[in-house]
Amino acid sequence: MKVSVIGAGNVGSSCAEYIAISKIANEVILLDIKKGLSEGKALDLTQTSSTLGFDTVIKGVTNDYKSTEDSDVVVITSGIPRKPGMTREELIGINAGIVNSVTENILKFSPNTIIIVVSNPMDTMTYLALKSNKLEKNKVIGMGGALDSSRFKTYLSQALNKPQSDIHAMVIGGHGDTTMIPLIRLASYNGIPITNLLSTEKQKEIVSSTMIGGATLTKLLGTSAWYAPGASVSYLVDSILNNKKKIIPCSVYLEGQYGLNDICIGVPCIIGRKGIDEIIDLNLVSSEKNKLEESAKAIATMNKSLKNFI
Ligand code: NAI
Ligand code: 2OP
Repeated sequence: MKVSVIGAGNVGSSCAEYIAISKIANEVILLDIKKGLSEGKALDLTQTSSTLGFDTVIKGVTNDYKSTEDSDVVVITSGIPRKPGMTREELIGINAGIVNSVTENILKFSPNTIIIVVSNPMDTMTYLALKSNKLEKNKVIGMGGALDSSRFKTYLSQALNKPQSDIHAMVIGGHGDTTMIPLIRLASYNGIPITNLLSTEKQKEIVSSTMIGGATLTKLLGTSAWYAPGASVSYLVDSILNNKKKIIPCSVYLEGQYGLNDICIGVPCIIGRKGIDEIIDLNLVSSEKNKLEESAKAIATMNKSLKNFI
């Protein structure tokens, strides 16, 4: 199995690292426009192979799309990241141009690949990749909900003082500080509703911390996070390549599900070898439905700025 990762910055190299360590793919191609960056990262990662015990071949290239030929999955992380005080939405102008040209190049050599979009503002970039190339909707997946859910689970596990592996929780909606919806009503500690275990005040605090989870890290790091984003991508790639059919909230194109149309937004999906096997249409209560509608409106407004591309 072959995975190409476009952008060998913080998130791209973290994706390559986790994919290799998890032994998900035989070959990982790291591609960047900065000469030497992906070659250096690939060589460094390759030199962890004997100590960490994986045989994945990792190759770094500068803008050479021929090397990505016949990729089963391509992950797009190219673009500029957030700086402290910036929203994901402010990245749109620069990142739309980058994501558009990168997608065209990928498709020249891997026309049937499954594309995972990471670059921000991710829901809008996912819509761009899908629409500007008229791709099949099951083959374009935006990664944001997996990461936001992992942050949600971290905060829940800390509040309960219970292991993260026993916490089940998901975040739907947009991948933005004000657009994401941590579904506290459905969160559980091994089947026990979280709402029975934590005070309303604590639940609200956890929901807020989750929503600003990315901004908190950006403030601490001076740029956006990469370990959890890379791990979330790797989890998605594993479910695709090994047809694991995991339920993962992903930004996907909706045609009537949740009453929404012509938009990419985060909803739970079954992820397998075809990409998106199934979109799960949850039975939301009215407050959650309203939040999802608001979230969709905000994303649709951002999508308008793509008029030069689609
Ligand atoms: P970074 O700056 O460390 O890396 C970005 C890389 O993209 C750079 O090495 C740059 O040279 C490369 N690049 C730029 N234009 C390119 C092109 N045309 N072709 C190939 N490579 C190109 O940034 P980082 O931290 O890796 O973040 C990447 C993107 O991912 C940002 O847009 C960030 O906001 C987003 N992000 C999204 C997350 C999500 O959950 N969806 C989570 C974390 C970051
Ligand atoms: C994150 O959530 C900024 O999207 C990036 O860390």
